Amino acid sequence: MADGECFLGIDIGTSAVKALIVDARERPVAGAEVALATSRPAPGWSEQHPDLWWQTVRQALAEMAEAVPGVLGRVIAVGLSGQMHGAVLVGRDDRPLRPAILWNDGRAAAEAAGLNAALPDLGHIAGVPAMAGFLAPKIAWLRTHEPEVLAGTRRVILPKDWVRFLLTGEFATDMCDAAGSLLLDEEKRQWWPTIIEAVGLRPEQLPRLLEGPEVSGRITAAAAVATGLPEGIPVVAGAGDAAAAGIGIGAVDDGDAFVSLGTSSQLFLTTAEYRPNPTALVHAFAHALPGRWFQMAAMLNGASVMAWTAGVIGAPDLGVALDNVAARGHAISPVTFLPYLQGERTPHDDPAARGVFFGMDGGTDGLDLLQAAVEGMAFTLVDAVAALETAGPVPATLAAVGGGSRGRFVMEVVASALGRPIRRYAGGERGPAFGVARLARLAVTGETVGDVCVKPELRDVVLPDASRQAALAARLPLYRDLYRALKPLFRR
Ligand code: XUL
Repeated sequence: MADGECFLGIDIGTSAVKALIVDARERPVAGAEVALATSRPAPGWSEQHPDLWWQTVRQALAEMAEAVPGVLGRVIAVGLSGQMHGAVLVGRDDRPLRPAILWNDGRAAAEAAGLNAALPDLGHIAGVPAMAGFLAPKIAWLRTHEPEVLAGTRRVILPKDWVRFLLTGEFATDMCDAAGSLLLDEEKRQWWPTIIEAVGLRPEQLPRLLEGPEVSGRITAAAAVATGLPEGIPVVAGAGDAAAAGIGIGAVDDGDAFVSLGTSSQLFLTTAEYRPNPTALVHAFAHALPGRWFQMAAMLNGASVMAWTAGVIGAPDLGVALDNVAARGHAISPVTFLPYLQGERTPHDDPAARGVFFGMDGGTDGLDLLQAAVEGMAFTLVDAVAALETAGPVPATLAAVGGGSRGRFVMEVVASALGRPIRRYAGGERGPAFGVARLARLAVTGETVGDVCVKPELRDVVLPDASRQAALAARLPLYRDLYRALKPLFRR
């Protein structure tokens, strides 16, 4: 590599677009994070317009160029990551026909149930049974509720692939994001015609399928003008955000496992073969590197429940509020929290589930509620481990990545709930953008996966705390019983 050459990763997240430029030694050279708003046109619905992603990507690149003049000109390859499962409908004029329907949108529950009934093999072939947030049932929903949109649709793509189209003029996607559409035969790593037809699509409406480090296209002259990136540099296929985060911390070998705490949260385990486990609602998807897969428990309510609770109790700074909770030294909150603010996927498949604070009395205060929120989020990870363990062992220590892994108190609660030490790596919060910058590097340098997708330097290991671990273990049955008891009531 010539001196100064860099790689760019762009992650089209749900709450923000994050862009990161790293140099040949993987040192961050520039970074930007620009917030994204989500619209909720009806209860349980969740949408963003693709135009907003493009504007936000351009803004993030402009901010980096302003902070580090000339930096975009040093980029020699680009990787894209993004929120998975969203449905982007593109019309005959290559414009989005409507706002994208996102991963945390629950409107297509009936259509998901219909697909599971019609295709009994679905979970084994597509890696997980149909659930409301996936792309395939949303297409079935549009067929009934917005037939004119479906009739006018030339292409169906995933969120980050809209940005790819504007950067390169190509309609393409990577295996991991394709997996999250539920239209992929996971083992063969090819589109699955049976389900494509079942939702009312034709194969030619879907993007070209590539492995994560394959070049999908090159920055066009128009995109170079719009973004400041050099014309002609390659844009690799990239990865859905879950697998991209895994690439960033070197979770690429059989048995590498980590929890990711972002807006949503995941427990992710790399597997050398395709290992479906549909009855536990585990997602068995293609990884972002050829010949590798992963098993994932995917929860819709991650670190975002802490920020939400801080807002509700009027705490202006979440970090300070969490420090205040830690300083009180309570082994557990007197309150139990079900964190299902936007329904839940693993292990419940329940778009109707909602958040619940249980067990408050006249002495309950805001910090009790915030501690309960942290514990509720940690309990979802305990359920995630239980789901993965139905098919095989989960490693005795886990890595943690994502914004929610930054705080020591939160990690101590998670380690205590799981009864497992948690490893944190330097730069673990860099997330998916860093992972796809690595995929971009793989495409242009001729290096091997072993050279590039290494584990970053270990920063620390957070151990379970004995008194917290005992208190959380004693509370877990109540947490689980509460959901069981309330499940029928959520539907009222
Ligand atoms: C994974 C999942 C989330 C979204 C949004 O199944 O739903 O990771 O990709 O981040």
